[in-house]
Amino acid sequence: GIKIVTIGGGSSYTPELVEGFIKHYHELPLRELWLVDIEEGKEKLEIVGNLAKRMIAKAGLDIEVHLTLDRKEALKDADFVTTQLRVGLLDARAKDERIPLKHGVLGQETNGPGGLFKGLRTIPVILDIVNDIEKLCPNAWLINFTNPAGMVTEAVLRYSNHKKIVGLCNVPIGMEMGIAKLLDVDHSRISIDFAGLNHMVYGLDVYLDGVSVKEQVIEKLSDPENSSFVKNIEGQEWEPGFLKALNALTCPYHLYYYKKEQTLQKELKNFEEGTTRAEVVKKLETELFELYKDENLAVKPPQLEERGGAYYSDAAVRLISSIYNDKRDIQPVNTINNGAISFIPAESAVEVSCVITKEGPRPVVNGEIPVAAQGLVSQIKSFERVAAEAAVTGNYDTALLALTINPLVPSDKMAKVILDEMLEAHKDYLPNF
Ligand code: G6P
Ligand code: MN
Ligand code: MN
Repeated sequence: GIKIVTIGGGSSYTPELVEGFIKHYHELPLRELWLVDIEEGKEKLEIVGNLAKRMIAKAGLDIEVHLTLDRKEALKDADFVTTQLRVGLLDARAKDERIPLKHGVLGQETNGPGGLFKGLRTIPVILDIVNDIEKLCPNAWLINFTNPAGMVTEAVLRYSNHKKIVGLCNVPIGMEMGIAKLLDVDHSRISIDFAGLNHMVYGLDVYLDGVSVKEQVIEKLSDPENSSFVKNIEGQEWEPGFLKALNALTCPYHLYYYKKEQTLQKELKNFEEGTTRAEVVKKLETELFELYKDENLAVKPPQLEERGGAYYSDAAVRLISSIYNDKRDIQPVNTINNGAISFIPAESAVEVSCVITKEGPRPVVNGEIPVAAQGLVSQIKSFERVAAEAAVTGNYDTALLALTINPLVPSDKMAKVILDEMLEAHKDYLPNF
């Protein structure tokens, strides 16, 4: 049977994952699920772990659920390791959002200064986990959901010897779901050719039953009435000619780059009202854990769908199943580029449609990313690389460079002001600095 270890197992998202394992048990015969967390997360691990046990019992499945704070014990002989941790918890996310906003710069979980600092805190922890994996389960696939997933995948590819890593995000599947809804068809009939980076991915073509419907879809998406793909980011009311001229589908995170002013103003309002996303999510999480405590609850509560991570279990389980079963179907994941995107280094991480095999993802080349998007994709990749280097070295000037070249940061001086304040605010979680 299969042994899966989930690090950050006390996350409120765990019931989502467990639901996926239950639904797909017939193709993914899971024997042991190890939920791992740290001392600070002990109570949440207990609550969510017990819900996981009830869900599995209700489904009548024979899956052992282990709850532990001992990562090394858990990792021994694992087949798959998933990571969904948040270093510094939601308090750190709130700082990532609020400190830049205080200076009039976008504060967001994975973009701009927040993205840099989430990377600086997270990369050393992930590299430490990878180090354990190399010793305790070197053949295991690491499926990383931990944000910033693109930067984290880049760091593992560059700074570790463990090549069996896949970065996973629910944005691409969310785009497919959104388009299925737009066309009023079942999502299984829709597929998109994806290319780009995590949270910076484009749809180069879109198919209904294998036939391109790109023109109709772009037409519909250009209507300001339509389109909203994820819960945490608003609809994208593009100028009517924008998508047509770009000739590609955008993802929700593009709003931060192509609508800088509007998204910033909106976040500044949230800043003043105490309703930035971390603050909203904190309330949601408190409610979720109250529900999870109910011993009569044995399913994923619908309230979890208020989180941005909807469909993440679908993405996770179909990926793990296709690796395990060597399905060779096509799925969008973060993996080594190997030439799939011509203007990105071969050894860098990209988010592209891939054939998923037992040996891992094989990128599919679906033509070029439009020239209008190549510059931004390159710039974000440079940002991710410099940021990953800063995370590993703890070098101040490298961190300042990363922030200065980020498209959402207006100047070197502002970068320094924000960097200094955030280094201080997050110092407990930045041992390399
Ligand atoms: C999207 C992204 C995830 C991110 C999530 C945030 O789904 O793909 O990478 O973690 O949104 O959702 P939240 O509910 O925490 O704001
Ligand atoms: Mn994501
Ligand atoms: Mn699909």
